[in-house]
Amino acid sequence: MPARPKITVVGAGNVGASVAQYAVEKNLGDVVLVDVVEGIPQGKALDLAQAGPIHGYDARLVGSNGYDETADSDIVVITAGLARKPGMTRDDLLFKNAEIVGSVVDQVVARSRNAILILVTNPLDAMVQLAWKKSGFPPQRVVGMAGILDSARFRTFIAWELGVSVENVHAFVLGGHGDTMVPLPRYSTVAGIPITELLPPARIAELVKRTASGGAEIVGLLKSGSAYYAPAASTVEMVEAILRDKKKILPCAAYLDGQYGVRGLYVGVPVKLGRAGVEQVIEITLTPEEQAAFDRSAAAVRELVTTLKL
Ligand code: NAI
Ligand code: 2OP
Repeated sequence: MPARPKITVVGAGNVGASVAQYAVEKNLGDVVLVDVVEGIPQGKALDLAQAGPIHGYDARLVGSNGYDETADSDIVVITAGLARKPGMTRDDLLFKNAEIVGSVVDQVVARSRNAILILVTNPLDAMVQLAWKKSGFPPQRVVGMAGILDSARFRTFIAWELGVSVENVHAFVLGGHGDTMVPLPRYSTVAGIPITELLPPARIAELVKRTASGGAEIVGLLKSGSAYYAPAASTVEMVEAILRDKKKILPCAAYLDGQYGVRGLYVGVPVKLGRAGVEQVIEITLTPEEQAAFDRSAAAVRELVTTLKL
């Protein structure tokens, strides 16, 4: 019997702990939770292990304030950092989280040379670029989570609007994870039918707007902290696609080397995720308006990356 895959989750806060929970509930592997706060990763790992007999998972769960336990991880999910508070933009987090992510990447890559890194910390696209640079890994093994979450929000709003199952709704949101994200109604479908044939343009525009401010809507309600159930579920969809080599097409922050007219930058696009990581960037045809919106979004990401001198 081969050993279970090893998944390290750095940052045992709201998103990280939920990633650990969903990953073991799906029997994806053993989980190491790492955080700087003493007792938190250990306590959450122990608590989750004790849910195993009830849920029926045998995963080994370990919590730690150091990195030795993370050695030889297959996947490292990085959620460490500060979350958005009301009135704070994702970009306000840039410098503080760059410092945190930079030090985390140094520590994990020293112990897991063959891991695939999944970044969650905001501002997402800039953090993935930073992690890729710091790691020295090929771009296929460094990827960011945002598009699945943004698309899931759009899917939810479409399903509610039309009174249909969320399972019937597919959607693509591309670009950076920020106010300039690019929801694509033409490629968003209900049982294969584009929503542009099911809803009037003005209503679609409202759903697009709610999607683009979906993170801020939840921050406004929670008041302290930001969304974590859907972000964790989105991250675990990526972990599963990779560990089970599903070759799933998902919108993720991936390194572009000329695709969509962008070179040398991480931006959200559809990719094929499998055991090798980002196995392909899928190029879809954009209208001039969609391409212009994508270009604006990529320019916003480029600005952050330039600010960080990456
Ligand atoms: P949280 O505050 O609940 O958890 C963050 C954890 O990171 C804390 O437990 C903290 O102690 C830990 N941490 C801080 N510095 C660390 C270090 N140097 N090493 C290890 N751990 C460290 O925040 P939450 O809600 O879990 O969000 C985490 C990050 O994910 C935030 O930056 C947030 O903006 C981002 N996020 C991104 C999403 C996306 O779509 N990409 C969606 C949701 C959240
Ligand atoms: C979100 O979209 C905070 O980026 C996070 O919920």
